[in-house]
Amino acid sequence: SAAGTDFPQPTVHTQKAYDPEKSDFTARWTRADARQLKAMSDPGAPSRTNSMPSAYTMPEVPQDFPDMSNDKVWVWDSWPLTDEKANQYSVGGWEVIFSLVADRNLGFDDRHVYAKIGYFFRKAGVPAAERPRNGGWTYGGLVFDDGVSGQIFDDKSFSHQTQWSGSARIFKGGEIKLFFTDVAFYRNKDGSDRKPYDPRIAMSPGKIHTNKNGVFFTGFSKVHDMLQADGKWYQNGEQNPYFNFRDPFTFEDPAHPGKTYMVFEGNSAVTRGAKACTEADLGYRPGDPQAETVDEVHEKGAMYQMANIGLAVADNKELTKWHFLPPIHSSNCVTDQTERPQIYMKDGKYYLFTISHRSTFASGIDGPEGVYGFVGDGIRSDYQPMNQGSGLVLGNPTNLNFATGFPFDPDYNQHPGQFQAYSHYVMPGGLVQSFIDTIGTKDDFRRGGTLAPTVKLDIDGSSSSVDYSYGDGGLGGFADIPSDTEFKN
Ligand code: FRU
Repeated sequence: SAAGTDFPQPTVHTQKAYDPEKSDFTARWTRADARQLKAMSDPGAPSRTNSMPSAYTMPEVPQDFPDMSNDKVWVWDSWPLTDEKANQYSVGGWEVIFSLVADRNLGFDDRHVYAKIGYFFRKAGVPAAERPRNGGWTYGGLVFDDGVSGQIFDDKSFSHQTQWSGSARIFKGGEIKLFFTDVAFYRNKDGSDRKPYDPRIAMSPGKIHTNKNGVFFTGFSKVHDMLQADGKWYQNGEQNPYFNFRDPFTFEDPAHPGKTYMVFEGNSAVTRGAKACTEADLGYRPGDPQAETVDEVHEKGAMYQMANIGLAVADNKELTKWHFLPPIHSSNCVTDQTERPQIYMKDGKYYLFTISHRSTFASGIDGPEGVYGFVGDGIRSDYQPMNQGSGLVLGNPTNLNFATGFPFDPDYNQHPGQFQAYSHYVMPGGLVQSFIDTIGTKDDFRRGGTLAPTVKLDIDGSSSSVDYSYGDGGLGGFADIPSDTEFKN
């Protein structure tokens, strides 16, 4: 925890579990917690060096990375085929992953409004070191035919209709349920919104087939429109046209057998700009000389950053009907985005992992782009931010003494790895996959659009560290998303 006089003490979190359905307890990543990030940063770290602890920093990814799609598509958020415990399956001797993809003729930063879900496959059971450098995947094409994901929108006057992140589950007989975010944009020619974009949590059922040439799917012709932000627990477009509502991840909890839960990215349901943060969101211990007041925090404008992580429970076995439960986590006046949340279980503990950006932190808070982690005794619990109370688990090499810039124009003084990877997903055994965004310095950088090398975390209670003995100095194979379980009908 923070030594010296510049930083507060982190909030005390008990990790205690609450009933996921009967309780409305929401854990807080407080400003007192998140200020530990800056407390761990070396104020003397020179230009273009990493100021953060190496145990929580992703090893530097080389700029000569290979393209996993062999020039076919941009690739970013990706996810494996899993069961209710997040085991990763191979089917008929093939590994398969789903990825957001877009045409390589687009600029990489234009990808979001053109995103579609594609898939890749490769032979299972080959050690990473024996695969081609780009991971050895074959691009299988898009999952949905044209027009399928637009079905659920009554107002079909959308300017762009896209498919954003999710997760995929496999069931008996090779039935697949593909959970994703179905999104309609209603934009004018000049790029402004005619009306707020409309993201919905959806699911499409399909079936996997394999033969000696690879993997293909049938189905994926119908989409179930399942959850829309309610404005009560989850901010909607009326409250804030820039709201975040996406990225479903489903799982079962051994403590509540027979139920299926979902976590997803949301925002606290207040009107944009409302001075809604509380003493509890700040989380200072009584008498802490580094405490801020609620008024001070609002005066800094921190109330524009109001992320939460939502919880829903399925109402039927087909997982086509769901209802919201109160959020399990909030980051009010801390950050605006806690994306692609997932529940990871180890040694009886529940880990809530999520990704966040340096650019979405609130005024007065700073930290790297990467994975943040919180540990508790249940899916709804008083989650404790991992690693010295900060929450940081796997950041890009970043120098917090200097500005950020943008992936298309990094700040002159930034470490070449500041934007190297994003959209990490923590896999069994602590392996972490992510995609490459930008690698290099302001004067010499290369855009990514393909998956980064897989890295490994050692997770131990409320601590974690990067395993630098994994792969080559901590970097495993590019685009290495290995299966750990063989599908048996
Ligand atoms: C993370 C993300 C996801 C979203 C996708 C859209 O990289 O912001 O939350 O589903 O990108 O491109």
